[in-house]
Amino acid sequence: MLLTDHMICELKAAQTAMWLIRKYAVDKESGDALLAWLAPYEKFIYRKEGNLADLTDKNKLSKNLVPKSTSKYGQDLIDKMVLLIKEELHHFYQVLEIMTDRGIEYDNITAGRYAKGLIKHIKTHEPETLIDKLICGAYIEARSCERFAKLAPFLDDELNKFYVSLLRSEARHYQDYLNLAEEIAGCDITERIDYFGKIEAELINTPDSDFKFHSGVPA
Ligand SMILES: [Fe+2]
Ligand SMILES: [Fe+2]
Repeated sequence: MLLTDHMICELKAAQTAMWLIRKYAVDKESGDALLAWLAPYEKFIYRKEGNLADLTDKNKLSKNLVPKSTSKYGQDLIDKMVLLIKEELHHFYQVLEIMTDRGIEYDNITAGRYAKGLIKHIKTHEPETLIDKLICGAYIEARSCERFAKLAPFLDDELNKFYVSLLRSEARHYQDYLNLAEEIAGCDITERIDYFGKIEAELINTPDSDFKFHSGVPA
């Protein structure tokens, strides 16, 4: 369950970043190149098509992304999010490799309450929507980082090493999200960060009967 949920989370992290670039930063042609990049991974998760071998060498973006002339956010958002997607898809591949080695068959599972519980508080008008999304992205990445660190000592050697190896990139991901949020807001967003911090803490600290990577306290 842990590995399956982890693998799906890696795809969702990549999808979130892709969605942000497509919505806010690039033209249609660049958006299509992004869709094509993630397609084989989505096929695997949603349609159970393909396997580890099919995903080897698939982690490539087919073209340089061009910022929309109308985009205020442009290049920095693209650069940070493209790197993030690349890393998340690599993590996805690494989890699938471990699952394949261990003979764990992938089966789609329902998502935990965590991400939904954060996202539903995102404001529905711009630019607040984008800023809230970036703040939520930061929390999800930071919490993932915390989970890898806390879980690692309880896992077998291979998973322990793997989870420790993920800490550095996840820590950078949350900082990238936070920096983008601050940059784009152009003003102090501490209050908004605190607001989501309280919601996030509630999701993590209250009983949760569903065991997933970002679960609350086991009920
Ligand atoms: Fe990741
Ligand atoms: Fe990440």
